[in-house]
Amino acid sequence: MWLYLLLFFCAILAYYVVKQHSHWKSKNVTQGPIVPIFGDSLQVIFRKESAYDMTLRIYNRFPNERYTGIYQMSNPILVIRDPELLKTVTVKDFDHFTDHRHFLPEDIDPLWSKNLFSLNGDKWREMRATMSPAFTSSKMRAMFCLINECAEGLADYFQEENKKGQVVREMKDVFTRYANDVIATCAFGIKCDSMKEPENEFYIMGRKATDFSNLWTNLKFMLFSVMPMISNFVEVKMFSKETSNFFMSVITNNLRMREEQNIVRPDMINLLMEARKGKLKHEGETQEQDAGFATVQESEIGMKEMKTKREITDVDITAQALIFFLAGFETVSTLMTFMSYELAINPDIQKRLQEEIDETREKCNGRLTYEILATMKYMDMVISETLRKWPPVVTLERSCVKPYTIPATRPNESAVHLKVNDIIWLPSVAIQRDPKYYPEPDKFDPERFNDENKHQIKPFVYNPFGYGPRNCIGSRFALMETKTVFFHLLSKCDLVIVEETIVPLKINKKIFSLGAEDGVTLGFKPRQRNN
Ligand code: HEM
Ligand SMILES: *[C@@H]1O[C@H](CO)[C@@H](O)[C@H](O)[C@H]1NC(C)=O
Ligand SMILES: *[C@@H]1O[C@H](CO)[C@@H](O)[C@H](O)[C@H]1NC(C)=O
Repeated sequence: MWLYLLLFFCAILAYYVVKQHSHWKSKNVTQGPIVPIFGDSLQVIFRKESAYDMTLRIYNRFPNERYTGIYQMSNPILVIRDPELLKTVTVKDFDHFTDHRHFLPEDIDPLWSKNLFSLNGDKWREMRATMSPAFTSSKMRAMFCLINECAEGLADYFQEENKKGQVVREMKDVFTRYANDVIATCAFGIKCDSMKEPENEFYIMGRKATDFSNLWTNLKFMLFSVMPMISNFVEVKMFSKETSNFFMSVITNNLRMREEQNIVRPDMINLLMEARKGKLKHEGETQEQDAGFATVQESEIGMKEMKTKREITDVDITAQALIFFLAGFETVSTLMTFMSYELAINPDIQKRLQEEIDETREKCNGRLTYEILATMKYMDMVISETLRKWPPVVTLERSCVKPYTIPATRPNESAVHLKVNDIIWLPSVAIQRDPKYYPEPDKFDPERFNDENKHQIKPFVYNPFGYGPRNCIGSRFALMETKTVFFHLLSKCDLVIVEETIVPLKINKKIFSLGAEDGVTLGFKPRQRNN
């Protein structure tokens, strides 16, 4: 009797499992070989393949299709391959795909759910339009001095260390500390020097807030994505009480002190305070590309003047400062790490960049400004190429918020109907490595972005900062931060390969974002000519 029941149960389960993985097939969308229960995510879950390699593999599976279907466990996801179609869903029909995937229930962790990345629909539109003026060129120019100070500090530190003997460091650690100090001063109004004081409180709390390697936390998120009701029983929060309280108190103390003492500091808190008073506006700036080729343009949604006067609370402000931290700390340090690796293994490219740096230094008598940074063409080419070959954000996605149909445009296609909450993936990483768009894609070649070539790059095949109105709000900030630090570092040191350097670099399979297995360890050699 029990045996029959068990068999019956297994049969139902098997039927269910098989049916789950026929979603795309039944819609005439191509899909690859599927592992029961795990779908396409077996290798990633068991850390046999990095998310980066998985995206490449899936993208290259059906090289002639405009889209292809995959399963994240049982969740069907449509991967959009065709640049034209990417443009349609992220820009023209943006209204159908306004949201990122919600992977936490709303209201449960306000510091997470109220940030720009997580907000949905109209609340997102409002916050995006409120925040957007804080990231324009003129605001970046004002903040430049804070960043420059951190970058000079870092270069000075290495100059001092060099006097003691050969310096060898793991670059991800170095740049994580730098990115930490930059965000601390720009978004939280706190000065720290994480090279000289490696264990400072802000750095430690920042690491805690961004450390998602905890098994229990990961398990909770995974369970939540399959069974949202578990959030009623266990606390599924992004941040621990300790972290939330720490960041809340940093911001509220800062706000209070500034209001009481009328302190004005050219940073994000100041801009957020202006936004709260309704004083932060776009100043009729034309959307210049002076920060670099990779910058993304703000859409009409972001440019719109906010009329609603919904109150911006301290929690709102902390949530934004925290997302600037989360979004701009891993990503930026990853970009810098891979750039330093490419420069070390391509000494001729490094040398040419140093020549440009030296010339620029002479022109400005050693006093770097935002405007002068923008004139450095080769610097911009090197960064653009690093972002092509090694885009720090591996999977971009959108959640469907209004039913949508992708019409068939080829004889062997069927129209694909997407429902609310269906997920689409935008595999920008793989497109940027497609030989169809970039010959010899594995070669690091900044010349792809020289004045002649960069305008030949087709639309929607270069998107390290994302697509359409929901793209990265901080692209100018990120580029400025990166250029500034390389300007100062490379004018004092050569980055060189040492015994510990792993060449070629291997991608880390243990983390979900882009990273190098066992890090990127490089030597800092003092340069001969120095001023
Ligand atoms: C090299 C560094 C960076 C890279 C590669 C990067 C890339 C991205 C990408 C790909 C997205 C998603 C776009 C999409 O879905 O289409 C994004 C979103 C976002 N980024 Fe960045 N980012 C970087 C640095 C920063 C910095 C420094 C900040 C803030 C100071 C920032 C703030 C944000 C925010 C708030 C969002 C969410 C925007 C929204 O949903 O409206 N990012 N970023
Ligand atoms: C799939 O293709 C077949 C044959 O071309 C067609 O008869 C069927 O209606 C299509 N199914 C869907 C869901 O479009
Ligand atoms: C559909 O047609 C395109 C050419 O229009 C072809 O390259 C592709 O392989 C076809 N796909 C299938 C599944 O037959």
